[in-house]
Amino acid sequence: MNTMPEKIIIFDTTLRDGEQSPGATLNIDEKLTIAKQLARLGVDVIEAGFAFTSSGDFEAVSKIAQTVGTDNGPVICSLARARQDDINAAAAAIKPAAKGRIHTFIATSNIHLEHKLKKTKAEVLAIAREMVAYAKTFTTDVEFSPEDAGRSDPEFLYEVLEAVIAAGATTVNIPDTVGYTTPSEFGAIIKGIKDNVPNIDKAIISVHGHNDLGLAVANFLEAVKNGARQLECTINGIGERAGNAALEELVMALHVRRQYFNPFLGRPVDSEAPLTNIDTRQIYKTSRQVSNLTGMLVQPNKAIVGANAFAHESGIHQDGVLKNKLTYEIMDAQLIGLTENLIVLGKHSGRNAFRTRLKELGFELSETELNKAFVRFKEVADKKKEISDWDLEAIVNDEIQQAPDLFRLELVQVSCGDQARPTATVTLRTPEGEELTDAAIGTGPVDAVYKAINRVVDMPNQLIEFSVQSVTAGIDAIGEVTIRLQHQGRVYSGHAANTDIIVASAQAYVNAMNRLCYALQKNKEQQQVSRQ
Ligand code: KIV
Ligand code: ZN
Repeated sequence: MNTMPEKIIIFDTTLRDGEQSPGATLNIDEKLTIAKQLARLGVDVIEAGFAFTSSGDFEAVSKIAQTVGTDNGPVICSLARARQDDINAAAAAIKPAAKGRIHTFIATSNIHLEHKLKKTKAEVLAIAREMVAYAKTFTTDVEFSPEDAGRSDPEFLYEVLEAVIAAGATTVNIPDTVGYTTPSEFGAIIKGIKDNVPNIDKAIISVHGHNDLGLAVANFLEAVKNGARQLECTINGIGERAGNAALEELVMALHVRRQYFNPFLGRPVDSEAPLTNIDTRQIYKTSRQVSNLTGMLVQPNKAIVGANAFAHESGIHQDGVLKNKLTYEIMDAQLIGLTENLIVLGKHSGRNAFRTRLKELGFELSETELNKAFVRFKEVADKKKEISDWDLEAIVNDEIQQAPDLFRLELVQVSCGDQARPTATVTLRTPEGEELTDAAIGTGPVDAVYKAINRVVDMPNQLIEFSVQSVTAGIDAIGEVTIRLQHQGRVYSGHAANTDIIVASAQAYVNAMNRLCYALQKNKEQQQVSRQ
């Protein structure tokens, strides 16, 4: 195995660490949709989940392994604690993949040993060694992470890494679990590992880091300069607390500044060869999809994929860009797949034109998904004369968003105005097929709709976030509503798009309620199983 590859390996953990963001919970079909898009994006490894944690996680990893883990597809990985039952679940879940990886971990910092694991260094060392050897009985591709490496005693870290590599680990991942290190410190940790772990040439050095101080991407780039060759990252940087290092930022930094990074990978300074396998033109689309499905909005000033990332507001900048783009732009928006928002279809466009344009935009839909999306397209085209690429994207993402269909919104009707008390009537179909109608008065039309839905679905919750964004400009624009609600400390998100923002608001709320309802059902099932 070449442990110093000429390209940086991109390990995407959106579906594992990213999904650990509060409220970002995805169902199996949504995970599969994202995994397919990650494969189109060209990631080398997909960490598809943590198979042991629930039957849903197991099934998602297994389905992704079956569907996306083809011969030419990415490596499919499952996380596992350094315990036999965890590793057994990971091994079974990744089995259908052509290339499967088990990623096992145990903490190595004094704080974690003393307060969390209540184990000695000798015990942790023995467990790490034994569990890597155990994982190795299932697959040749085993990754090991010393959790909280950023705060671990370096000498102990070297000892553990040497032992796990000897036991068969092919990748050793160095996590800055709490986002504590600074770039020069993190670079020095990687250099220390290269200099002090005698068998380090037998494994790839990977890095994983959280963004608590906003330093994750900078830390990773410093790690690359010191020998790291795999980067663990997520789309839009979602993840635990302040999130993980953002894939799009890492990839574009390595691309735009490749002349700076080339020498660190042993290449001539002016080599034009890409530093990763990522198809950068898929970045924007992947970002939108992950944001829509997880309900995690992208801040407008976010690097690379934020709405303002390529916008110029000041007169001086606009003047400069008109004269020559290079004055204020270091990369072309088309490089991340941000195409011009062309008007492409209208109400007379047929199914073939619809299918063809979606294909050009990189959507691969099943016949059933295409049928559903086409019906939605016709409804929208009746209200909105011209349908642009961005509208199409919103329609398709909305249609293939698979919030578990437990309650269905059948009707929403509001009356409001400066002389009227906002009143809403809603009809919902229950999972048992019963149609229930109720009405309520609220402080505004959305409040009235939500109160009416609450009268039908008795599931107390607190609305903690409500946001409306328009997909395009214009009075007939499609509005996208994203909401987050809280129930017993857990957050559930919902997203919907419609030319009528009241309908989108109602649908987003029903989607979030369905997620909540689904989670409660799953909890109940798990409690029943553990009682048996
Ligand atoms: O942040 C972390 O330490 C992790 C490990 C499991 C790799 O997510
Ligand atoms: Zn993490």
